[in-house]
Amino acid sequence: MFKRLLASLAGAAFIGAVGAGLPAQAQDYPTGPITVVVPFSAGGPTDTVTRLVAESMSKSLGQQVIVENVGGAGGTLGAARVAKAEPDGYTLLLHHIGMATSATLYRKLPYDPKAAFAPIGLVTEVPMVLVARKDFPPNNLQELITYVKEHKDEVTYANAGIGAASHLCGMLFMQAIETPLTTVPYKGTGPAMTDLLGGQVDFLCDQTTNTTNQIKAGEVKAYGVFADQRLANLPDLPTVKEGGLEGQSFAIWHGLYAPAGTPEPIVNKLSEALKAALADQTVIDRFAELGTAPVPADQATPAALQQKVTSEIDRWKPVIEAAGEYAD
Ligand code: MLT
Repeated sequence: MFKRLLASLAGAAFIGAVGAGLPAQAQDYPTGPITVVVPFSAGGPTDTVTRLVAESMSKSLGQQVIVENVGGAGGTLGAARVAKAEPDGYTLLLHHIGMATSATLYRKLPYDPKAAFAPIGLVTEVPMVLVARKDFPPNNLQELITYVKEHKDEVTYANAGIGAASHLCGMLFMQAIETPLTTVPYKGTGPAMTDLLGGQVDFLCDQTTNTTNQIKAGEVKAYGVFADQRLANLPDLPTVKEGGLEGQSFAIWHGLYAPAGTPEPIVNKLSEALKAALADQTVIDRFAELGTAPVPADQATPAALQQKVTSEIDRWKPVIEAAGEYAD
């Protein structure tokens, strides 16, 4: 915190010395490579989204934007790493709904999700799909619900740890069918998908960015999408509501953050680079193939992301408390 105070005082002093000009480090930013931390393993949905955005941002920033995977504890280890990083614009975090759910799930979170970060902007909202290994006996959602209830002590559900999107989706599913199941935690749903394809784990709720290709290739069985209507890239996949599963539809929103105390001109420059990446046709086309789309430009802003984090903490708090599942 002391470093942050010094950084902001230095910035203020510099502005005072040279009038309204930008602090030197902001004026020339970026003068070197930028690291974006993904708080999950490589090869998963968060990693996929981040690598597409990072590659495009590096074009407009004129510097390498490097992705670093820091998995563990449902995304909170990677988030904690960035919360403690120098607020100089060279260490960022791309995280998702877990930023909000972890606020309730973790009793001793090593950072305050509302204050430890300088939000840069929202990125995308990705639908969740229920998939299973391809030789799993049920052939539709109703059969799956019946099967897991009858085999509740044998079936295994994969997730990326408490606080992950796959954890939240699984928690809602188990609440809806009133059947707790054995969960197998991974550092990301990249490795979870590998085990699903290998038949080592039975089923998983994951984002379309990590399931579309496997569904289209017939490598996994898909049972439903947690959305109000079917997806354009998977028109034959029913919604879970069509399959008879009541409950709220939700999508996994993703945001880009810097550590709190990062000078505002740097945050604004990053927000502009994020908007340019979200307007990049390559990013738009790849997102569409994977069942998602960039947020509108007015959502790729610090204010929009701050508001999302705050409102989502409030939204999920009672749902998580009703489930009564916490992490220490
Ligand atoms: C999750 O929350 O399940 C993550 O998206 C998994 C991942 O990105 O690897």
